[in-house]
Amino acid sequence: MHSSCLISLALTFGALAAPGPTSFVLIGDSTTANGTSLNSGGWGNGFCASLSSGTPCINTARNGASTGSFVANGFWDAAIAAIKAEVGVGRRTLATIQFGHNDQKIAGPESMGKNLTSMVQQIRALGGEPVLLTSLTRRSFNSDGTINDTLQPWATETMTVASQTQTRLLDLHKTSIKYCEAIGPPYCHVLNKSPDDNTHLNEKGSTVFGRMVADLLVGSVPSTELPIITNAALSYNISHGIPSFYS
Ligand SMILES: *[C@@H]1O[C@H](CO)[C@@H](O)[C@H](O)[C@H]1NC(C)=O
Ligand SMILES: *[C@@H]1O[C@H](CO)[C@@H](O)[C@H](O)[C@H]1NC(C)=O
Ligand SMILES: *[C@@H]1O[C@H](CO)[C@@H](O)[C@H](O)[C@H]1NC(C)=O
Ligand SMILES: *[C@@H]1O[C@H](CO)[C@@H](O)[C@H](O)[C@H]1NC(C)=O
Repeated sequence: MHSSCLISLALTFGALAAPGPTSFVLIGDSTTANGTSLNSGGWGNGFCASLSSGTPCINTARNGASTGSFVANGFWDAAIAAIKAEVGVGRRTLATIQFGHNDQKIAGPESMGKNLTSMVQQIRALGGEPVLLTSLTRRSFNSDGTINDTLQPWATETMTVASQTQTRLLDLHKTSIKYCEAIGPPYCHVLNKSPDDNTHLNEKGSTVFGRMVADLLVGSVPSTELPIITNAALSYNISHGIPSFYS
């Protein structure tokens, strides 16, 4: 066979190949957590639901957690055990890390940054693949329609750690602010866990922001490598600033 044929065959099979076995471990605070406890409800479940069936997606995120308390309360050990197990059975294991909401209540951004750096290093040492996310925005607005943001210094710190440690970064903070400002307060608050809870998400909110995370990941990792089920209509609404799930 002609060598160019071989190359094109290889390219064809490369493009058609199903993604290798991949799993996800989610690490973070209530804005990633599954929402079964009070003061909780994040994008994690919506993200897991956007993966093809059978893809392990282990949400270890906890309400109230800062980087420090996540470790101190043993949740980090649980996350590490999950990563070890997934890597151990030969899966590419992507571990998302998103903090800031509670870190900002106890210390300046650098304290979180040091802890994130350590988390990234420990995940890598186990053969996992860390992915840093900036904090999901709170959905409180100023009277001019912009988001009343206080998390930017923690988002910036997360970006600094990502660049220093050469870690994949998904800027959820920026993307979620952009979407909420585009759709405006009433449509943005449809996604709240309860009407006045501008931090946590209901199921619709988890679906929307989980899809946003999936889309950010697809923008960062070749989509052929990811076990993500597309939802073109929802992705379109998110990227075009069109409200979702309002009826
Ligand atoms: C939700 O997360 C909590 C805390 O990690 C966990 O104890 C609980 O089993 C999870 N529930 C579901 C339904 O996944
Ligand atoms: C970071 O971790 C240290 C313990 O190593 C802890 O003292 C500190 O409070 C943590 N910072 C945050 C913002 O949680
Ligand atoms: C914006 O957030 C700050 C800090 O939480 C708060 O003090 C202020 O009242 C908020 N502004 C509006 C318009 O809600
Ligand atoms: C996306 O926007 C269209 C047009 O406004 C709307 O009909 C549709 O219900 C939206 N999709 C979701 C998932 O909300």
